[in-house]
Amino acid sequence: MNIVIIGAGYVGTTTGIAFANQGHQVVLIDTDEDKINKLHQSILPFYEDGMEELLKQLIANGNLSFSTCLEEKIDQAQILFITVGTPSLPNGVANLSTVEHVARQIGRFIKDYKMVVVKSTVPVGTGDKIKEIIKDELAKRKQEIPFDQLSNPEFLREGKALYDAMHPDRIVIGCDTEKARLMMKALYKEEDAKILFTTIKDAEMIKYASNAFLATKISFINELARLCEKTGSNVIEVAKGMGLDQRIGPQFLQAGIGYGGSCFPKDTQALLALAKEKEQPLHILQAVTKVNQTQVEWFMEKVKKALGNLSEKRIALLGLTFKPQTDDIRESSSLKMIDYLLKHNAMIKAYDPKGMDHVKKIYPSITYTNTPYKAAVEADAVLLVTEWKEIIELDWNRVKPLLSQPYVFDGRNALDASTMIQMGYIYEGIGHRPSS
Ligand code: UGA
Repeated sequence: MNIVIIGAGYVGTTTGIAFANQGHQVVLIDTDEDKINKLHQSILPFYEDGMEELLKQLIANGNLSFSTCLEEKIDQAQILFITVGTPSLPNGVANLSTVEHVARQIGRFIKDYKMVVVKSTVPVGTGDKIKEIIKDELAKRKQEIPFDQLSNPEFLREGKALYDAMHPDRIVIGCDTEKARLMMKALYKEEDAKILFTTIKDAEMIKYASNAFLATKISFINELARLCEKTGSNVIEVAKGMGLDQRIGPQFLQAGIGYGGSCFPKDTQALLALAKEKEQPLHILQAVTKVNQTQVEWFMEKVKKALGNLSEKRIALLGLTFKPQTDDIRESSSLKMIDYLLKHNAMIKAYDPKGMDHVKKIYPSITYTNTPYKAAVEADAVLLVTEWKEIIELDWNRVKPLLSQPYVFDGRNALDASTMIQMGYIYEGIGHRPSS
């Protein structure tokens, strides 16, 4: 099929690569010339392991191309995917201005039937708005060109984007005509059995509800971790025991320093904003976001208490990205941690395998090192922020003599507490108080 994807962010680029890899003809559009020029040279706008090699192949075999001009490319598409961003406005509401702009352009440029599929994460009711915008534009042109509007939310995870796009757990499609339904079945023919056809409004809500529920699991276990420290229980064991119940499941019960990234913080806020607009409060979700907003501070208070105070203390921050296997630092807990440390006059040396350049732009004055070992030199404490494999698997026997004080604060419960204690560290994790 001929597909045009509008918005070369994480979702758009990955979706484009996945469809092109299945043999579809894909054009990826973005107004950012620099991004498109780099894509032409097989350079991704983000880090995702293994994706650039595939990008190169798909450009070479002609299945994937790029453009900054929707008007030039729209005629060749049977299906248009909208994958532009929906960032939060200051009040938490999803900013739909780019989505609406794209819808307006579609209404202005189409000459024949198109399927317009929204993959961007949008509040319930956006599908109807898009339909109206396209109809309005067509009316201005005095045209009655038929089109279908669909919702097909994306569930891929950063760091595993390609795998998720190629092997989805489920494909949710909101559509209201038989023609569109048959075309989507043909598009996803290899994953046919995984499709859930539903209404557009249900598909839109499924996306928000899924992210809100995963965020709920994380905040639940993080809050429980705080209690575990008071009761002498070990949250790692508690999560393991809970997860054995198939109705609960073990995933997303890893206690830590809170969820970050471009999705959970934004999408929970947008769902809360929608709830407010509809005068139907979501009390659980309010608590979920509150726990997340306070989790770093709760952790840092532990660090401060252990070290006495933080003024002039040298802190090694290991990991800056919101999770491993990505260079994304959006809403990363590391940023809140840096703010806290700077406010308390601590001295920071930071290391991350992929995220340092981005953090440098926000905090140019802290020290960045090109190895984790250098960050540890003369540090009063090591803070493990992101559970990169290379950080977990450091030679911790080599790290210890570099330190001024043998404190390790493990923000992800990624290290084995008893091994660390045996090595002579003073170890603190999340939700468990290891005895020496
Ligand atoms: C998330 C969802 O998992 C995807 O399904 C969804 O498509 C995506 O948002 C989106 O809406 O685009 P992502 O943001 O890439 O994906 O990252 P996750 O792997 O879900 O992790 C989110 C945050 O939760 C990270 O900061 C991670 O460290 C944290 N987390 C995750 C925990 O603190 N504990 C856990 O047990 C799991």
